[in-house]
Order: sequence, then structure tokens, then C-alpha cells
Amino acid sequence: MEINFDVLPAIETNIHRLQREIDELSLISENPAPVVTRILFSEADLRARDFVKRLCREAGLAIREDAIGNIFACWDGADKKLPPVATGSHIDAIPNAGKYDGVVGVLGGIEAIRSLKESGFRPKRSIELIVFTSEEPTRFGIGCLGSRLMSGVLRWNKAAKLSDLNGKTLEYWRRHAECKGSLSSVRLAKNSYSAFVELHIEQGPILERERIAVGIVEKIAAPATLRVVLTGVGGHAGATLMPGRRDALLAGAEIALAVETAATGSGSADTVGTTGLFKIEPGAVNSVPYKALLEIDVRDTDRETRDAVLGQIEKAAGKICDRRKIGLKMLRLNADPPAVCSPALVDMALETCQAQNISGRKMISRAYHDTLFMARLCPTTMILIPCRKGYSHRPDEYSSPAQIEKGVCVLAGMLAMAAG
Ligand code: GLV
Ligand code: MN
Ligand code: MN
Repeated sequence: MEINFDVLPAIETNIHRLQREIDELSLISENPAPVVTRILFSEADLRARDFVKRLCREAGLAIREDAIGNIFACWDGADKKLPPVATGSHIDAIPNAGKYDGVVGVLGGIEAIRSLKESGFRPKRSIELIVFTSEEPTRFGIGCLGSRLMSGVLRWNKAAKLSDLNGKTLEYWRRHAECKGSLSSVRLAKNSYSAFVELHIEQGPILERERIAVGIVEKIAAPATLRVVLTGVGGHAGATLMPGRRDALLAGAEIALAVETAATGSGSADTVGTTGLFKIEPGAVNSVPYKALLEIDVRDTDRETRDAVLGQIEKAAGKICDRRKIGLKMLRLNADPPAVCSPALVDMALETCQAQNISGRKMISRAYHDTLFMARLCPTTMILIPCRKGYSHRPDEYSSPAQIEKGVCVLAGMLAMAAG
């Protein structure tokens, strides 16, 4: 596909090369294809990082990594004193995921840079690809770990206290991944970048339904996560009679239903609430569950509505546990505000679409992304592409090569315009 701007050379992206790389990366997984699972700093995640770094080196980019493992791959501009333009996304994947979430923004970002290079374009500002550490919350319960630290929203001394559900600390995992330097060095100054643009699959059905090639993000919905630990009393499933049982699972089940009630009754069609993690101990069919761990995801485009729902869930959990005589520990792992993207970048993206004859519309991202935190550092927007039936976070997630190609073309055009 050709992009022709008055001021820019024609840019030709190589979708076959990119699709091959997407397919190859998808095979680096903790589970057999078509499932993609790459939990932060697992062997699969580390091999995937090596794969991406090799592609960056082959593209002539200079690589550095920070103390949390964020990877920066830089194409030097003519004026290195100017803050660079950045793009990027993530390659970690939740359990039982597909091969496009995050990956399209990382490998598509490399392809956009390669095609700009091959077109003869020489940027004034440097262009940097960022591969963010742990956009997914699987390891530590908190998403966007890399960009959260970069933006300063998560302080390094708080991050240092993170540990996973097996009690392994962030420090343990940093050593395992051979991350160098102190966590305090991850934070970046405001305006370290002149702009950040992330390419991603939509993860919803709107673009496909409306047959629009590209969504330009104006706002990212506000996510929050609750962790709930319930302590009951275990016992023999046959010999412990029903009266007086203190079953932690049953309290958890009522809390999960309260999440549904609060989210559906918020008065906003935008509120979503999900109990995505529910673990019990000891996990034996003939034993009353004495412990339950739940993680609850609540989002809305409006922060106040989201917070009211969080409050309602917390209140309901208190009442349920009082009635059932269950010990309750409840923690807000994160409760982030929504991000507002830069109107100037949104306009630039729409102009780029127009110049390339690619249909585009403004939209809201209901999924969160590292852009949520990059928006604290510099002007941002996102380029979303359709995915089949809006499926995401499942192995049958799919965007066609033609759909990906259009997203990469818009990204390449944006990078060229923003880098000058
Ligand atoms: C990102 O993976 C999200 O859950 O929105
Ligand atoms: Mn995801
Ligand atoms: Mn993602």
C-alpha cells in the first residue's frame, strides 16, 4: 500500500513480512497454538523479548532497557536534542489469549519504522519504539506496570513491594529477567516525548460493524481492580453439617453477584464489572473452602460512576461477610482516572487517514493500554483497527492482514508527520 503526502516520500509497508513475524511470535507461548500465554518474565516472555529485540536490531534501531524491562528501540533523528516521537505497545499476554493484542502495536510499530526507512524518509526528531513491561496485570495484579512507573503514577518504592500470588517479589523477577539499575530510574520527566501513538486492535465490535478501517482514540476508559481475600472455616464436606458453615467460596460467589448487580445498576451503559479471578483453598471436592481470593475489574468512561460502583461493591462485600462470619480483606489495587488524548494528534490522525484514503472515526477505548499512562507524559492518541466480532483476550482473536496493513500505514504516516 502506498501513502502519498505532499511533503513525504511514498511509503510502502510489507504486510507479508509483518504477518510472518506476528505468526512466529505467536508460537513463543506457554501453551500450544492457537493459545498465546506470555506472563511477565516467564520463559516465553523472555524469549519473546529476545525475538523483538532481534527484529529491532535488524531494523537498525539502537536498543536500551530500563530497570523494569521496558525496551526502547531508537531511530536517531537529525536533531537529537528534540524530544523523540514514540510508538509501541506490549507483548505479554494473559492466559489463554490470542496473537494480536499488543503485538500489532509492537511488530506493527517496527514495520512502520522499517517502511519509513525504506522509503528514504529521514526524521528530524528521533522515533522510538517502546515495548512496555507487563501491560497485562496477570503477574502482579496491576496492569501497565512499565508505563505506570515511567509516568510516576506508581512510585518506585511502592512497586518494590509488589509480589505475585506465589509470594515471589518484583525484585526476584527483575533479577530473573536480568533487569539492571534501580527502579527509581524508570520514571521519565514530563515531555520526554513530543508525542506517543499506540497502534492496537479495537478489542470491541464497533469498527467491524461500521466497516471503518481505523478508530482514533479520544479517551480511554477508567479501570480499577479490587483484590478480595476471604477467610472462612474449612472442614470435611460430609461431616460438617450445613448450619453454621463458614464457606469462603459462597461468600465470594455472593460478592461476584454483587459486582454484576452494581455494574448493571449503575445507570450507565458504559459500566462493566468482572470477577475475573476466583481461587479457592484447599480446592478439593470433599472439603469446605476455607479461603477464597477474588480479583474484580471495574471500568467506566466516567470516573465518578466507576468509583460509585466500587463503593457499592465494597459495601456489599462487608455485609455479605458479616452475615456469613467470613474474614474480609479488600484492597484497591488500582483505580485510575480516564485518559484524554490530544485533540491535535487526533486531528492529525484523521488527516493522515484522509490523505491515505483510509476510513477513520473518533472513538473511546474501553480497554486500557499503556497510552493511559503515556498521556501523563506527553500528547497521545491511539490507532485502533477492527478485530473479528470484537473478540479479544481469547485465542480466536483475529485481524486480517489487510486490516493490520491499514493501521500500520496510518501509524507510519503519523510518525512521519510528528517527527518532521
Ligand atoms: C488490557 O489488557 C485490558 O484489560 O484492558
Ligand atoms: Mn490485553
Ligand atoms: Mn493490549
